[in-house]
Amino acid sequence: MSVRVFITQPIPDPGRGLVAGCADEVDQNLEDQVLSTDELRAKVAGCTGVLCLLTDRIDAAVLDAAKGCRIFANMAVGYNNVDVAAATERGIMVTNTPGVLTEATADLTWTLILGIARRVVEGDHEMRTGRFPGWGPLYLLGGDVTGRTLGLVGPGRIATAVAERARGFRMAVLYAGRRPSPEIDALGGRMVPLDELLATSDFVSLHTPLTPETRHLIDARALSRMKPTAYLVNTARGPVVDEAALVDALRSGRIAGAGLDVYEDEPKMAPGLADCPNTLLLPHLGSATFATRAAMARIAAENLCVALRGDRPPNLVNPEVLSRLSGEAAGITS
Ligand code: DGY
Repeated sequence: MSVRVFITQPIPDPGRGLVAGCADEVDQNLEDQVLSTDELRAKVAGCTGVLCLLTDRIDAAVLDAAKGCRIFANMAVGYNNVDVAAATERGIMVTNTPGVLTEATADLTWTLILGIARRVVEGDHEMRTGRFPGWGPLYLLGGDVTGRTLGLVGPGRIATAVAERARGFRMAVLYAGRRPSPEIDALGGRMVPLDELLATSDFVSLHTPLTPETRHLIDARALSRMKPTAYLVNTARGPVVDEAALVDALRSGRIAGAGLDVYEDEPKMAPGLADCPNTLLLPHLGSATFATRAAMARIAAENLCVALRGDRPPNLVNPEVLSRLSGEAAGITS
């Protein structure tokens, strides 16, 4: 039977070339545009594999249309866009691309930390609009970074890379999560309850995956626990923050500011957020470097090709699917 793959958008090299090497037919959406559920359903029908992106909503309806498909290889570390339980029920493997975007995302987290504290975008705007009145003792003052306290929520790989960089700024590092992180401990970090982290950090940086438990983890109550001089930074997933509550906290001066790379309902923002001057707003650029995106495309393609060969892909996020698949029929070894 012919092996057909659908790629949901243009992706960097070497992604498509690798896929072409392991499939008989490759169809690709060549527009930089997210497909609707109906369009996705039409495209995935009859496919053996799909390479998708974090902007594609892979729900039960799409998975039903992909009957007989072996794998949805998501080109992202986060996979909250895929209904993994529904994929497992249908015997479809789901993979992600962990590791390769850690450093780029940690770098961007630091871009936000420094940029929001030192009012970099506001300063740039002053220069471009000819508003710089000349140096003044009270002009565009911001928060200190060196020597302050950094609170990391969700102590995974990216948080660890952010903590490594914090050493150069001689920061105290706190973290909150479900279990201790020997890596962050080794960097001098200390695990504390979330409420303590919120109440004592000068920068609260979010690095948790989006799950039912972390949706709106940072709500009005959590924001009210933060210091009025503290900043919130989010390079994880938008819905971890209640964005309407954040707008209230920013407007009222409940917190000093926010540096955001992700939003609750991308590509939209909550009403009022763009009008808050104490924000630095980036359009989901965490992994947006040439090398990182190429590595993500390569890993997604490799996962896909391994699954098409009948083997277990290295970054399988639903290993329980293997017991649902007949090892003999699918030729898969767990
Ligand atoms: C991911 O891979 O989950 C990142 O958000 C991409 O930038």
